[in-house]
Amino acid sequence: MSVQVFDPSVLSAPAKDLAPVRKRLYIETQGCQMNAYDSSRMADLLGESHGYVLTQNPAEADVLVMNTCSIREKAQEKVFSELGRWRKLKEKNPHVVIGVGGCVASQEGEALQQRAPYVDMVFGPQTLHRLPHLLNQHHAQHYQGAKKISLVDISFPDIEKFDFLPEPRVEGPKAFVSIMEGCSKYCSFCVVPYTRGEEVSRPLDDVIAEIASLGARGVREVTLLGQNVNGYRGETHEGQVCNFAQLLRLVVQIPGIGRVRYTTSHPLEFSDELIAAYADLPQLVSHLHLPVQSGSNAVLAAMKRNHTIDVYIEKIKKLRAVRPDLHLSSDFIIGFPAEGDAEFEETLQLVKDLDFDHSYSFIYSKRPGTPAAELPDATPESVKKERLNQLKQVIRASTIAKTDAMLGQTLRVLIEKPNDREPGMLLASADNTRLVQFVGPQDWLGRFATVEVTRICSMNLVEAKVIAVEGISALSD
Ligand code: SAH
Ligand code: F3S
Repeated sequence: MSVQVFDPSVLSAPAKDLAPVRKRLYIETQGCQMNAYDSSRMADLLGESHGYVLTQNPAEADVLVMNTCSIREKAQEKVFSELGRWRKLKEKNPHVVIGVGGCVASQEGEALQQRAPYVDMVFGPQTLHRLPHLLNQHHAQHYQGAKKISLVDISFPDIEKFDFLPEPRVEGPKAFVSIMEGCSKYCSFCVVPYTRGEEVSRPLDDVIAEIASLGARGVREVTLLGQNVNGYRGETHEGQVCNFAQLLRLVVQIPGIGRVRYTTSHPLEFSDELIAAYADLPQLVSHLHLPVQSGSNAVLAAMKRNHTIDVYIEKIKKLRAVRPDLHLSSDFIIGFPAEGDAEFEETLQLVKDLDFDHSYSFIYSKRPGTPAAELPDATPESVKKERLNQLKQVIRASTIAKTDAMLGQTLRVLIEKPNDREPGMLLASADNTRLVQFVGPQDWLGRFATVEVTRICSMNLVEAKVIAVEGISALSD
């Protein structure tokens, strides 16, 4: 152990050099919004337990954490190439601690440390709350010569993690709230049920308390998160079950909360009760991300999505009947084993028929351990790439058309932050996720405004004239 000796040179050092040395944490996040949420909770946790402050620079970090994604092979490969860079940092400073969490950690476990022995801690999405404990164990081994035990913890303890996480920090008027973990749908291509475990919903009271606390601290928009979010079935304190539609009706009543989003939902759980909520709750944004994956019934069956295209179309029709201005987005998987030219054409047709606002599309990636990995797949990679390009073009054209159609529209937007690129302007977000810029003072931040779109700047950005700002009685010209 080192002994601290008073160094007289500090008396002549500039004041900033005398600031207490804070330990720094660098977190790299890959993958979905759930991972982004988990990463911010890790930062809260290590800030509270060990006083770590976040840094954007891995070279100055004492602890490096990678929150990984294994949804497609490419994401998984990135983990090891990035870890190779971190290894060099550790070679320079052996006190640096490297942790790997998320879905690759969950899938690989001990094997990850075998492949990358310089990794000190491995933990899964359901054990991230044990990170301070793992870090203490690591320090005990590293500094005090404690017995070396493997620091791999990728178990699935029954949703205990939320009981150990500190109150989330508030950064701006928007916040994410995880309401359920894991997924039990077992689509044949997907690793999530294996890496994040079976579906578990957080108890209703916990979810409501977390959102109430966020609302009290200035949050105006919450995004409810879960891999199968509309499959939420949370227990009430009377031991009953609250479903997703019922939860939404409670969330919109929470003081401060003016807008609610959620992601990602599954078509099978998209109930009539949920559609009815759109008729009654103006706080629910007119945007829905509802992955359909393919426009072909044969492919959907092979994917084990357990519904047909007609079921999906019917639900969207019903929803648009109560919300005519609904913006719809989806995920598509291209080149799944059962997809031939005819099936791909059906996907293209569906995209045109349903008039999607924007969508994400991916080439199918075989994941070890999933049932689809066993399916024969004769389609050449070049054909898949060509199909993906074709689909992306159609999607892009429709996104551009949707943005162009915003010209002249009156929208309710949430004012989020100053626009760093255009001094004097603020940036707000519309229901359909487009950014909206306009001139305005800083004290409008965090308020809802009614604006009229005056110019289309790009596919994702429009300019507007402000008509009214909530809580501001009169606008000067
Ligand atoms: N729970 C969500 C999303 C899970 S993963 C759902 O209901 O769909 C996000 C998206 O990644 C999926 O919607 C799917 O389009 C894509 N994806 C998942 N596994 C994949 C794989 N093996 N190959 C390619 N894309 C995949
Ligand atoms: Fe994956 Fe299907 Fe669940 S895509 S996350 S198994 S709904």
